[in-house]
Amino acid sequence: MGIDVAGSTFGIHTDTTSYVFAVTDQGLLRHLHWGGRIDLSDVIAEPLWELSTNDLIQDVTPQEYPCHGRFRYNEHCLAIKFADGGRELDLRYAGHDLAADLVVHLHDEKGVRVDLHYEVLEGIDAIRRWAVVHAEVPVRIEAVASAQFHIPFRDLELRNVAGRWGAEFQEVVQPVSSKVVLESRRGVSNHHHNPFAVLSRQATETSGRVWGMALAFSGNTKTVVEQTQYGQTLVQLGINDADLAISLAAGDSFTTPAVVATYTPDGFDPLSQTFHDYGRSLLNPAPRPVLYNSWEATNFAVTCDGQIALAHRAAQIGAELFVVDDGWFGRRNPEPNGGITDGLGDWWVDPVKFPDGLKPLIDVVHELGMSFGIWVEPEMVNPRSDLYAAHPDWIYREPGRDPDPARGQYVLNLAVPAVQEFVTTMLDGLLSDNDIAYVKWDANRPMSQVGAARDVWYRHIEALYTIVREVKRRHPGVLFEACASGGGRIDFGALSVFDDVWTSDNTDALDRLDIHRGYSLVYPPQAMRAWVTDVPNFLSQRSIGLAFRFHSAMTGSLGIGCNLTTMSDVDLRAAATFVQQYKQLRPLMHRWHRLENPSSNDYRLFQYSSPAGAVLFAFLPASRLGHTSTTVRLRGLEPTARYRFELDWQTHVARGDYLMQRGVRVWLQGDYASTIIRFDRVED
Ligand code: GLA
Repeated sequence: MGIDVAGSTFGIHTDTTSYVFAVTDQGLLRHLHWGGRIDLSDVIAEPLWELSTNDLIQDVTPQEYPCHGRFRYNEHCLAIKFADGGRELDLRYAGHDLAADLVVHLHDEKGVRVDLHYEVLEGIDAIRRWAVVHAEVPVRIEAVASAQFHIPFRDLELRNVAGRWGAEFQEVVQPVSSKVVLESRRGVSNHHHNPFAVLSRQATETSGRVWGMALAFSGNTKTVVEQTQYGQTLVQLGINDADLAISLAAGDSFTTPAVVATYTPDGFDPLSQTFHDYGRSLLNPAPRPVLYNSWEATNFAVTCDGQIALAHRAAQIGAELFVVDDGWFGRRNPEPNGGITDGLGDWWVDPVKFPDGLKPLIDVVHELGMSFGIWVEPEMVNPRSDLYAAHPDWIYREPGRDPDPARGQYVLNLAVPAVQEFVTTMLDGLLSDNDIAYVKWDANRPMSQVGAARDVWYRHIEALYTIVREVKRRHPGVLFEACASGGGRIDFGALSVFDDVWTSDNTDALDRLDIHRGYSLVYPPQAMRAWVTDVPNFLSQRSIGLAFRFHSAMTGSLGIGCNLTTMSDVDLRAAATFVQQYKQLRPLMHRWHRLENPSSNDYRLFQYSSPAGAVLFAFLPASRLGHTSTTVRLRGLEPTARYRFELDWQTHVARGDYLMQRGVRVWLQGDYASTIIRFDRVED
């Protein structure tokens, strides 16, 4: 792995891939290769032809970072406005620096410099790209993507996940026959399109060439996939240019979020493995505690005694962390119509619900051997709160109009330094005054009425990251969970500051299997929170047995959200057994493999591996038409190592190559049937 330069050709090499581009005689950066490993000395830059007077060289050249202006009509990465009203950019190669990463300088003599950064990720089969725009004269950026990629094929298939609240991460596959735009325009939450693109042609989980790119940004994003007229497919990722304007004074610069890009000739599973490796490299490596969360049990009706009662039961079933969700602060009580317009912003402990503060509860939680966590929604304010009364100007609001409430709340303008200071100080105080080990950071509505400040789409998220980093710096070891009405804030930007993500408010155990599978395409299991909750499920109204519910939640980072005070003793004992089993499986659940179900029955298969063994989860939602078995071929084992496992009530030992080549037969019966098979590596 490494970066090399031969003349005007640049090669960025991971263990198995190469990414190559060269400077053309016009000073443009022409992309030449992204795929299997090659040697720069072999690279041939075939001549490019202007096909006609309508297909000029600037458009025909697949450029690393095309800008708006001149003869460029496909998607461009950068558009700016100069003080004289001009908008034409003409960026040409102006040198490079090669140190830990490669920085290629592009320059427009009208006063703009762009540095393109290329980095090989240590120990991960992926590269990272981003751009820095330097203004030598005052300019206004109107579009600024992080990177453009070129895949030398047409007729590719695009994979992404799409959805909405309660239905996040639904895998979507579509042919790219023209241009596809996947975007978010909501500012703080995005359940709709996740900022990544996976391109392939006739690939499976284990075969076929696959290219994947993911953007590390949690706000408005835009991913464009365009089949060009010239036999290629371009992919561009970055901050969404919709409603964006970023003004730079002379001497200012703007750094885009990064894109992580990876290629494999071996299908989606290895691609996902690389993305998971990258995700894990951002995360705190400690195993995540089994948590109990009170939200579905109590909603806003949180009281000290009620939480203590839940805490006793949570400890009894083996929870390691007890999290009080919404409702503990301010005057956070629903109105008779169910609406809630007070509390957010007033981060003082409600003296009615907690007459002696949080300490009595936290003390009990600690005595029970658990750590304590708390819910906050720091970017928001309710109109009836004291904070809003004191600072009505702190929210996003169009002059001369009433602000838009959603869920009875407004969004604070985090780009304002005083607001950032308030949020940072509030969290610092909360964590200093109370022994808190875990913060669930929620954001339950999109931004609106941002007015003239068209850079807040970016600045808000930048401030969010800064605040979380600063609070973590002051309180090392505290874990932060990213939540935005469920899974609205999951991306590599969020994972670079948060430790956990709340995947979806949809806690139906069957729906969750689809959500988890979609999530697994790019993001690692370690961060994926999943709870077991009561039935009938509040959303699906479906009643699924406890074993299936636990097994489904155990495919991620286990949590429990049931009302444990009304749970039967039988179920409490069963829950304790599942939690104990999960704790024993947790060390084996390192890598997450996307298995294909080769059976016509609707088996759902999740497999994890680690050097010590593997875990297979199999689910059969509904038995149909005299169902049959499925044969599951495992992945990620050592071919020559031996593994002990139990199948059909018998203990077996088999080599990794047998389990990966031939596999094991799994046969479930009934509806909502599920099983876990554990494979322990046997010492030779
Ligand atoms: C959002 C979250 C839930 C819960 C509620 C509390 O909907 O996704 O998990 O925290 O807010 O209001």
